Amino acid sequence: MPPPPFFFTVLLLLSTAAATTTSKTVTLPPTPSPTSSPTPTKPSPTPTKPSPTPTKPSPTPTAPSPTPTKPSPTPTAPSPSSTPTKPSPTPTAPSPSSSSSSSSSSSPSTLDPKQLRALQSLNIPTSKDPCQSKNNATLVCDSSKPFRHLLSLSLANCSPNDVALSFTALKSLSSLHSLSFLNCPISPIRFPSELSSSLRSFTCVHSLKTLTGLWLSHFHNLTDLTVSATPVSTSGSYVILGNMKKLKSITISHANLTGYITKHLNLNLTHIDFSGNKLRGKIPNSITLLEGLDFLNLSSNALVGEIPTSFGDLISLQNLSLASNSLSGSIPTSMSAIPGLVHIDLSSNQLNGTIPRFISEMKDLKYLNLANNDFQGVMPFNGSFIKRLTVFKVGGNSNLCYNHSVLSSKLKLGIAPCDKHGLPMSPPASKADSSADDNSSDSDYDESSGDDSSGKSEHHHGPSKVVLGVAIGLSSIVFLIVFLVLLSKWCG
Ligand SMILES: *[C@@H]1O[C@H](CO)[C@@H](O)[C@H](O)[C@H]1NC(C)=O
Ligand SMILES: *[C@@H]1O[C@H](CO)[C@@H](O)[C@H](O)[C@H]1NC(C)=O
Ligand SMILES: *[C@@H]1O[C@H](CO)[C@@H](O)[C@H](O)[C@H]1NC(C)=O
Ligand SMILES: *[C@@H]1O[C@H](CO)[C@@H](O)[C@H](O)[C@H]1NC(C)=O
Ligand SMILES: *[C@@H]1O[C@H](CO)[C@@H](O)[C@H](O)[C@H]1NC(C)=O
Ligand SMILES: *[C@@H]1O[C@H](CO)[C@@H](O)[C@H](O)[C@H]1NC(C)=O
Ligand SMILES: *[C@@H]1O[C@H](CO)[C@@H](O)[C@H](O)[C@H]1NC(C)=O
Ligand SMILES: *[C@@H]1O[C@H](CO)[C@@H](O)[C@H](O)[C@H]1NC(C)=O
Ligand SMILES: *[C@@H]1O[C@H](CO)[C@@H](O)[C@H](O)[C@H]1NC(C)=O
Ligand SMILES: *[C@@H]1O[C@H](CO)[C@@H](O)[C@H](O)[C@H]1NC(C)=O
Repeated sequence: MPPPPFFFTVLLLLSTAAATTTSKTVTLPPTPSPTSSPTPTKPSPTPTKPSPTPTKPSPTPTAPSPTPTKPSPTPTAPSPSSTPTKPSPTPTAPSPSSSSSSSSSSSPSTLDPKQLRALQSLNIPTSKDPCQSKNNATLVCDSSKPFRHLLSLSLANCSPNDVALSFTALKSLSSLHSLSFLNCPISPIRFPSELSSSLRSFTCVHSLKTLTGLWLSHFHNLTDLTVSATPVSTSGSYVILGNMKKLKSITISHANLTGYITKHLNLNLTHIDFSGNKLRGKIPNSITLLEGLDFLNLSSNALVGEIPTSFGDLISLQNLSLASNSLSGSIPTSMSAIPGLVHIDLSSNQLNGTIPRFISEMKDLKYLNLANNDFQGVMPFNGSFIKRLTVFKVGGNSNLCYNHSVLSSKLKLGIAPCDKHGLPMSPPASKADSSADDNSSDSDYDESSGDDSSGKSEHHHGPSKVVLGVAIGLSSIVFLIVFLVLLSKWCG
């Protein structure tokens, strides 16, 4: 999912604002280094401690609670009515290169001037009062007096030419609880320890080029960590997780993470997503101690062995994917004890045994994918169960069959009907059902678009594949000829 281009929008707005209001003087000192800056008119509170002065009840968390609740990914901005200054609808663009500095802040700025300068030195476009700006997903401030401080900062779609991180600037931003980089492939730097410990939430999606486990491990007060589409080099997940005692949600996906899943997982974890990495070894039994875990995605790794027999101890589990690994053995019967499963994806492993009947009794189930395994015997589901689901896939299990007196062949399950012994009948997914089947090909449980190879979908796609192949072949021949002609002209 592409992050919304807030950055661009803000940039565009600011540049148009700057073009229309050139006569206005830019009142903000553009000092690049926030440490050597002249002291502002009023003494600012130290930014390392988010001041908990109770000014007005605001929706944003003001005091650092020892056990913070799950922070929402897109925090709402504090209501603009709570600010004492009059709203400035036309923000002057503090173009960092512009040197129209006369004196230090003469107009009221509710954000701590130190932090404002830090934002400017990071080349982050700020209005005169960033706390009041409408782009709520980019900046969130607390409501402390006399100056507000940044609680949340989100950078999106930045290029290395726009934004460069600096240690001193980041040090001024140590009030931040939440920091996120979305599509910002800039160079990571060492973070000041004040900032590392104040962060509760850190997000890095396709940003910061490459990260190390050690670098991430310094964020020891995090409750939420999200790293995706960014390579993370480490010798195992323990390096990252060992320090983070308060972690509740971890996503490290599509990060080429290697090594094993650590046995020592924080018992308060509710969300684990390690999908799309190179994790190997077994799923540790200790993972089943996570009673609050509601989301587990270990798909697309190189995990082996069996699903832990005590898997049913994960009583809070709702969404589960172990897809695209090399797991073997059968579905543990203990899973029948998990009351709220909504999403089960065990596809593309080497799981065997029969499909347990208890799955059909899972009341909340919406998604079931057991395709491309070695399941065997009679599939225990009836039509009303299958209709209830939004996704149901069982294709690619050559020893699995369905009872044709219970289920219609029109369901196109990608498996064969059973004979009277409960074994698949020899011609898999018989084509003899007449062409009337084509009628229902866009039903919910149609498999022909999936990667499950049922003989039928192969048959339907046959002619178009041939046409496509011929077209590709012809066009490459034409291309080759043009290329050769050009080459001969150029050489001769
Ligand atoms: C700001 O937040 C409100 C409600 O939280 C939301 O409706 C709106 O889309 C957000 N604006 C931006 C620019 O994200
Ligand atoms: C971060 O954690 C340390 C202990 O690891 C604690 O002393 C400190 O108060 C925490 N900082 C914040 C801002 O929560
Ligand atoms: C992971 O490694 C593969 C090749 O080993 C590479 O193609 C891919 O881009 C890497 N992924 C990331 C997020 O760096
Ligand atoms: C889990 O959270 C509870 C409060 O929500 C806390 O008392 C407990 O210490 C935490 N346990 C761990 C292992 O962090
Ligand atoms: C698990 O992760 C993969 C890849 O990141 C994603 O395609 C899939 O939808 C996820 N499954 C669940 C249950 O969230
Ligand atoms: C869990 O699975 C359901 C059903 O597939 C889906 O609608 C929902 O978005 C998933 N939740 C998360 C957090 O991925
Ligand atoms: C399932 O696979 C495991 C190992 O992969 C094997 O030991 C077991 O006998 C198999 N069970 C069945 C019913 O095929
Ligand atoms: C289909 O299976 C479900 C669950 O096993 C059961 O409750 C229901 O009665 C069955 N429906 C029919 C028509 O057999
Ligand atoms: C198929 O279902 C019918 C009716 O429920 C049952 O009598 C028969 O034994 C089943 N066949 C197999 C192979 O399970
Ligand atoms: C398609 O199905 C509908 C009812 O589901 C039926 O009336 C119609 O004749 C069918 N069309 C073909 C081409 O089989």
